Amino acid sequence: MTRIVTTFALPDEALELLRPLGTIAGPEGWREALGDAEALLCLLTDRIDAELLDQAPRLRVVANAVVGYEHVDTAACRARGIAVTNTPDVLTEATADLTLALVLAALRGLPSDERSLRAGEFHGWGFWDYLGADPGGRTLGIYGMGRIGQAVARRAAPFGMRVIYHSRSRLSAEDEAALGAEWVDFDGLIARSDILSLHAPLTPETRHVISADVLRRMRPGSYLINTARGALVDEPALVDALRDGPLAGAGLDVYEREPALAPGLIDLPNVVLLPHIGSATRETRTRMAMLAARNAHAVLSGQPPLTPVP
Ligand code: DGY
Repeated sequence: MTRIVTTFALPDEALELLRPLGTIAGPEGWREALGDAEALLCLLTDRIDAELLDQAPRLRVVANAVVGYEHVDTAACRARGIAVTNTPDVLTEATADLTLALVLAALRGLPSDERSLRAGEFHGWGFWDYLGADPGGRTLGIYGMGRIGQAVARRAAPFGMRVIYHSRSRLSAEDEAALGAEWVDFDGLIARSDILSLHAPLTPETRHVISADVLRRMRPGSYLINTARGALVDEPALVDALRDGPLAGAGLDVYEREPALAPGLIDLPNVVLLPHIGSATRETRTRMAMLAARNAHAVLSGQPPLTPVP
């Protein structure tokens, strides 16, 4: 009987889809069940490397239930004829929503205002108290104009932000016009962005792309928003740029060594820190789990996967 192994709890509808194909093991003891697994459903916190694949000689598909796949050794999977899938599209809107929430929270300093109220420091309305910054009239720079970058651009216009972007591939003139987004080179993006929002995947080329040097070249009083991957940013250098300038603030949902934060980050009042919740809505997480289940189902039924990784 086909064995399906999952590293996380699946919703009932995914279990119903997969049960007719065989037994389902996990999340408890999922590693021990790998010996005769044909499908593995996993998350970004699971390292799927050659050593793990060697324990699963019958594996046919790694159905990764998130969009990022830097935790999966895709070359090792390919060498073993194992399909690898991810979950594009289904989390685009939730992640873009959270990005805008971080932009607004960082510009208005919402977490520190809330902490102040909870600490009993709100003594009544004050004309010059708790001042933040307007999004309107500011330039939002988007690094990585894939699905999520574009969904962020669509949300920026109603707030009156100008959108510039830099991406591996440039959008068509029609798409740029529809989004009101102007392509710029990387240096132009860094020099012109009042708010720089990261939406690129983590690859050897993008690791620490926001380096100490890049941070030094950002506009005085600008903001960095990261809902992509922590390792895009040199975090200790970000701490320095938030403490000594040029950054006015940052909004972060992701970190290089999750759950650890770079030393000093947590003590800074001008950074909004969230626990990697970009796609964390009940609806979106259910869609992600279902897409992973459908990908596993397709491969086990001899069909091509729905969303293989590029
Ligand atoms: C992903 O899908 O890669 C996110 O980081 C979790 O939603």
